[in-house]
Amino acid sequence: MTTTTLGDLAVSPIGFGCMALSHVYGGTTDESARATLNTVVDAGITFLDTADVYGEPRDGATGPAGTNEEMLAPFLAARRDEIQLATKFGITAVRTGADGAGKRTDGRPEYARSACDASLGRLGVESIDLYYLHRPDPDVPVEETVGAMAELVEAGKVRYIGLSEVTANELRRAHAVHPITAVQSEWSLWSRDVEDHVVPTCAELGIGFVPYSPLGRGFLTGTLTRDQVAGDFRGGTERMGEAWGTNQRIVDIIAEVALRHDATNAQVALAWLLHRASQLGVTAVPIPGSRKPERSLENLGALDLTLDAEDMGRLDAIRTLVEGTRNIVDNPQWISSGRE
Ligand SMILES: NC(=O)c1ccc[n+]([C@@H]2O[C@H](COP(=O)([O-])OP(=O)(O)OC[C@H]3O[C@@H](n4cnc5c(N)ncnc54)[C@H](OP(=O)(O)O)[C@@H]3O)[C@@H](O)[C@H]2O)c1
Repeated sequence: MTTTTLGDLAVSPIGFGCMALSHVYGGTTDESARATLNTVVDAGITFLDTADVYGEPRDGATGPAGTNEEMLAPFLAARRDEIQLATKFGITAVRTGADGAGKRTDGRPEYARSACDASLGRLGVESIDLYYLHRPDPDVPVEETVGAMAELVEAGKVRYIGLSEVTANELRRAHAVHPITAVQSEWSLWSRDVEDHVVPTCAELGIGFVPYSPLGRGFLTGTLTRDQVAGDFRGGTERMGEAWGTNQRIVDIIAEVALRHDATNAQVALAWLLHRASQLGVTAVPIPGSRKPERSLENLGALDLTLDAEDMGRLDAIRTLVEGTRNIVDNPQWISSGRE
């Protein structure tokens, strides 16, 4: 398979989100997860995405449990050389903010250093290819956090730096401290706010984009049932809760385009992202995840799917039809569009 580049980092043109291999949307066993990874990597999907907060919580843990990273370790012990490995730090429920309120981010330099060492230890690797700040910390200037991440690059623990859910302004400030290789934020047919500021800034600065939840956490594929999402946090969101019925019209439009190409909804959703990114002058590498290896192989089919102007026009209309925001927490500032 051909590779594509995020900054100077060569990766597979579609990556794999390992969060799907933990409990969040249903879960699976570690053995089954690693079997899935073997099939996926055999097929050429070698850009793997994890984070220290992914995975089943551990009793008594006072910070990110790191169980998704631990699941990956035996797999990496066998196939590290084939993988472009991305992980993240900075989301934690541990610290309490100055106002005494519960806090879910930590961007202090000392925390960046200890989180990186902890991830390296759990993953059992000498370096991380792409290390992301998972969320900017409102109490720590992004320059300070990225300065600490730059020291991790100098120390050889990290090869490239990424940022998740940054605003365009935060991205510019961070990029002035150390080159940013990729932004990872939610971007899909029904989550398009990043196109207003963040994506154009990536295009201008030559920074890659890694769209997370590119299948709308499964919704856009048309394979989810309401019962399925009622069992996890998705059922509590407006988009997949009270607006479930209304939002089915989105799935219908994607299905019409898919039928026209003898493709699946997932392939159309991913092909749309790649086309849209190209229109906006940015390199995008989506990272869909699945517990089912055949679905990841199916997702690769998006690379061969060409959408024409008529398809793009029909799919573009989805933007105006979405009921509910993409934010999954009450704090509007949790995602970039809430801060710009
Ligand atoms: N930076 C951040 O803040 C952030 C936030 C969220 C996610 N992420 C990253 O982005 C990755 C992807 O996001 P995501 O997992 O939230 O959402 P997603 O990739 O949009 O959707 C994942 C869901 O889609 C299903 N799926 C995948 N391929 C399919 C196909 N071809 N047909 C039908 N269903 C399919 C999977 O279900 P099955 O397992 O049942 O197949 C899974 O539940 C995560 O794994 C994580 O690495 C990052």
